[in-house]
Amino acid sequence: MKSLLRKILAFFCREIGKKGVILLFDRNKSVMLGNKSHEVLVSRDTPSALSGVLSKLSADKLFLLADEHTMPLAHTLLRDVRFDGEHCVPAGESCKSVESLLGCLSSMESGGLTRSSVLLNFGGGSMSDLGGFAGAVFKRGLRVVNVATTLLAAVDASIGGKTGVNYMGLKNELGVVRMPASVIVSVEALSELPNEQWLSGYGEVVKYSLMMSGAVPQFVRSNDVLSIDSAELETIITECANFKLRVVARDPHDTGYRHILNLGHTVAHGIEAYEHERGNDIPHGIAVGRSLPVVAYISYVMKGYSRKKVARLRHICCEAFGLLDYSCKDVDKIIEYMYRDKKNIGDGHIRMVLLDGSANVPDVNCEVPESLIREAIDFYC
Ligand SMILES: NC(=O)c1ccc[n+]([C@@H]2O[C@H](COP(=O)([O-])OP(=O)(O)OC[C@H]3O[C@@H](n4cnc5c(N)ncnc54)[C@H](O)[C@@H]3O)[C@@H](O)[C@H]2O)c1
Repeated sequence: MKSLLRKILAFFCREIGKKGVILLFDRNKSVMLGNKSHEVLVSRDTPSALSGVLSKLSADKLFLLADEHTMPLAHTLLRDVRFDGEHCVPAGESCKSVESLLGCLSSMESGGLTRSSVLLNFGGGSMSDLGGFAGAVFKRGLRVVNVATTLLAAVDASIGGKTGVNYMGLKNELGVVRMPASVIVSVEALSELPNEQWLSGYGEVVKYSLMMSGAVPQFVRSNDVLSIDSAELETIITECANFKLRVVARDPHDTGYRHILNLGHTVAHGIEAYEHERGNDIPHGIAVGRSLPVVAYISYVMKGYSRKKVARLRHICCEAFGLLDYSCKDVDKIIEYMYRDKKNIGDGHIRMVLLDGSANVPDVNCEVPESLIREAIDFYC
């Protein structure tokens, strides 16, 4: 009887999957999400989820990429997995450099990887960005599996195939879009995450909440991410990952619709680049969280976005990420970086994604006057 039910469920899931997203529950307490681009497995049993994924890929060699914090975690969690080689990079944004990319490629070369090998990126968004790029260019591309160990990677960075490194002070200036073969969100690894990294992931969750309905906006309105319980966590990750997969399936190569996911990112990249310049790196998701009220304010002025929602978002972001604290000179620098954002089209204007008061989907590519950006930053200072 149970197997008949599973078959019926699988049939419906396949049918739904043709239109967008599949949602399957397997015996290992994993949730599998998939679409035309790739699948995401949210798992409390990472070794068995990985073994299932690898059995389908039949790789000649398996190579581990991790950073100095996630490498020991990989060695513990995946102690029974046989790797044919590994490469460790410094933790955080600094590993997303051309030098680090070349170091990684050298290790892959000397490890004898072929196009039939699999590169396993174990860590947060820095690992999937760096490793995804290395995997895409090595011998013109081998298969990559991302094991996401941060909340930010779980809900966003590890999904959808955008990869890259920073170059000449600019975020993700070099990179390609290439889908991973598979993504596993390691729920066990997340339990080791420091608070700052939870908050960083939460910045992206708040971003999603502005585009979604259901559990995610409800959670953001009434809960504290630092006291989230595991059932809630899996729901939030599953819903956000599902949302991202749906967007990616509609625009895998990031040519238009997918730009809605850049909500808050133009301002965030300006803040990140400026903070980096003055030697005070802040996690990406926290920069996004601090940018969202700025973008919401601009959306209120330009797109009729609800004033009440702007005020609520300001309160939520202020509680979680704190206010901006910038002088006029700081803002000049941030705006300078925003002009250099690669999402601009080179016509000397700053463009960004804005929330639209009369539509559920954000408006991409909106030209925003510099004076309004200054006013909006002032609103959130
Ligand atoms: N490609 C995309 O679509 C996309 C989307 C959003 C963000 N990003 C990129 O992702 C990067 C940020 O990713 P991130 O926030 O995951 O940070 P990260 O990968 O830099 O990791 C942050 C820190 O957490 C540590 N860490 C990771 N997992 C851990 C764990 N389980 N326990 C303890 N420590 C752990 C890391 O070692 C590092 O020190 C940025 O470079 C950003 O540009 C990419």
